[in-house]
Amino acid sequence: MTLYHQDERVTLLLGDALDILRSLPDASADCIVTSPPYYGLRTYGVAGQYGQEDTPAEYVAALRAVFREARRVLASDGTLWLNLADSYGSAIESRSRIGIGNPARSEPGRRKSLQLIPERVCLALYDDGWILRNKIVWSKTSCMPERVSDRLRSKHEPVYLFTSRERYWFDLDAIREKAKAGATWTGRKAAGAPSRHGLKGPGAQEAVPSLATHPNGANPGDVWTLSPARSGSAHFAIMPPELASRCIKAGCKPGGTVLDPFSGTATTGAVALELGRKYVGIDISPAYHDLAKKQLLEVAA
Ligand SMILES: C[S@@+](CC[C@H](N)C(=O)[O-])C[C@H]1O[C@@H](n2cnc3c(N)ncnc32)[C@H](O)[C@@H]1O
Repeated sequence: MTLYHQDERVTLLLGDALDILRSLPDASADCIVTSPPYYGLRTYGVAGQYGQEDTPAEYVAALRAVFREARRVLASDGTLWLNLADSYGSAIESRSRIGIGNPARSEPGRRKSLQLIPERVCLALYDDGWILRNKIVWSKTSCMPERVSDRLRSKHEPVYLFTSRERYWFDLDAIREKAKAGATWTGRKAAGAPSRHGLKGPGAQEAVPSLATHPNGANPGDVWTLSPARSGSAHFAIMPPELASRCIKAGCKPGGTVLDPFSGTATTGAVALELGRKYVGIDISPAYHDLAKKQLLEVAA
């Protein structure tokens, strides 16, 4: 393990995610927000990177080992937010065709099929005892064009919320959607009945709030419509800051520590600092840690 950078609020560790997690103390993170390399999609040009395994099963086993160790590092009331998209069997073939990554075996008869990678990883984590609390759909307002004419292009990615215990720290109020003026009242109350929650608004004299209504705003639900982060030449797969922000606001107690074992440019770290949390980022690529450090120092300044 190499300590790449450390200050009062930020620790960047260089090396393999599993190796480094093994060296971290029990229960030292309050929240994990991460997006691992997707299977067979792109290479980060570093030996030991995940996503280049010969089979989906090997990839799932690698991530399973990482999150088994991450569970020990996560506080017992902590949350894990996992952004992980699927890939097609054909992606493996194009990967070897253009000479990046290892020549990979496609599962027999599975060319062109979605490989159900997120589902396989979720099942593995479930078998390890993780509790799957949400499957959030990140609905993208825009996405890369795909040259296909025999299927639909993909416009969403899943984000899974896992916990290790049934009871855990979760601040729904921090991510509630503020009700639009005049749009919070959907029901009708009986004449003379008091209005619940002391809510006021147009039509308040005769209406009651719907089940979805709360004085602090509505539960945002499990479909999040967000634009993808603008990806410069620096990194291919940057997480949208707003996505990280919702996970951290809801899933990390104020002043707590956010861990990202696949830190990249540390989008999660920058958001964590902005929200008054601390950050531990792990990445196998020194080049991405360079970018991460620059970004984090700017945020902290
Ligand atoms: C999808 S990117 C993460 C992007 C990040 N969320 C951001 O916003 O910049 C995945 C990252 O995992 C890193 N990575 C790949 N294999 C790794 C390994 N074995 N251990 C640690 N990091 C690894 C890559 O270098 C890459 O930066």
